[in-house]
Amino acid sequence: MATQAALAIDGGDLPFGGGLLALVRPALNLLQPGGVLAVHSRAPGIADEFFTWCKVEHHELIEAAPQAGFTRLLIRKGSLGAPRGGMEHGLDLPVVQGRLDAATVLNTVPFPPAADPAVGFAPRGARVEPGGPVYPFTLNERDHVAPPDVAQLYDQAVNAQWNAETDIAWDRIRPLPPALQQAVGQIMTFLAENELSALYVPSRFIARIHPAYVEVGMFLSTQLADEARHIDVFLKRARKGGGGLGISHATTSASLHSLLVLEDFTEAAFLLSVLGEGTFLDLLRFIEDHAPDEVTAEIARRARADETRHVHFGMSHVKHALQHDPSLYGRLEAAVRRRSATLAGVGGVPAAVQDALTILAARGTDPVSVRAGHERFRELLAVMHENRVKRLRNAGFSAEQAGTLSDLHTPNFM
Ligand SMILES: [Fe+2]
Ligand SMILES: [Fe+2]
Repeated sequence: MATQAALAIDGGDLPFGGGLLALVRPALNLLQPGGVLAVHSRAPGIADEFFTWCKVEHHELIEAAPQAGFTRLLIRKGSLGAPRGGMEHGLDLPVVQGRLDAATVLNTVPFPPAADPAVGFAPRGARVEPGGPVYPFTLNERDHVAPPDVAQLYDQAVNAQWNAETDIAWDRIRPLPPALQQAVGQIMTFLAENELSALYVPSRFIARIHPAYVEVGMFLSTQLADEARHIDVFLKRARKGGGGLGISHATTSASLHSLLVLEDFTEAAFLLSVLGEGTFLDLLRFIEDHAPDEVTAEIARRARADETRHVHFGMSHVKHALQHDPSLYGRLEAAVRRRSATLAGVGGVPAAVQDALTILAARGTDPVSVRAGHERFRELLAVMHENRVKRLRNAGFSAEQAGTLSDLHTPNFM
């Protein structure tokens, strides 16, 4: 029985080395190994050319028959060196409500449960020719890395970017009384120092994430852009209006160092984003509520909107990982305890920060207002604790665990 070709192409009189292969190779790529391609060619001497080429490429030339005015070649596709993975040929992403967003892509080409480091930077869904090197990715499992809503969070982040240079009415900042000016400078110094840690900590993990879960790296890259903008905007605010930077405390430094040295992605997301950035939401709200001018309030409000996304991603990551690995509860608890132990001897909130927040809430230095400012600061600590407990309960910790872990969280807030 004559061999049936799954696919046929007409090469006209294209010479073998003059474009014919540009038709033959993509046609073969559409076939599974063992599939047969028919090629009709009017180029002279074409059978000999294909005989040699098929040998080199591990295909089989099963027929080269002269016909009236052309040669009919039948090529059986070889399996050696054939790319792995299904074909995306014919795929068409749906446009949903006029948008072709990352979530649409993720619904069409979902995350694999596990990813092979030997596929390197091949985009998810591509067919991968074997033989490439093994890449040093270590985060190769979906349930430890990629929460299901990460693509939506990436889209939200892209749409929520703002510009620290043009979106802030810098010309509306007026000089403040010296004590208030100094307080603002100190708070901005503290914020910028913590923002630096929020830039560095996630960046340590991006290169470890398998590209099959690239949306996680893409989201984290928006987080890095956010943190860069926060550093920029807080330093600008400290230096606008006759002030300058304040003190960087050893307490803050020790606390942020203990974040930077974390080696586990989920532990880092838990400590930085759920506990640290979560606590910063309340701090930024406090600064917004007590800001001495509308510009400072606006800066705090915008930063808090960004941080809400970072906390959301941290919560999604940790909750998704906990659902698939309940032993993680113990590991996360141990991570909080370890960090607390390394910070033993570190006192309460850094003194200059505590004073600055008190003066900010007092809006000045008269003793009656300062007493009220001090009360507002005590209330802030209570609200931070309450909201940390809520987040921990939401992640699945018991009420008792949540209370203990919140108490153990660094007095540096982040
Ligand atoms: Fe930030
Ligand atoms: Fe953040």
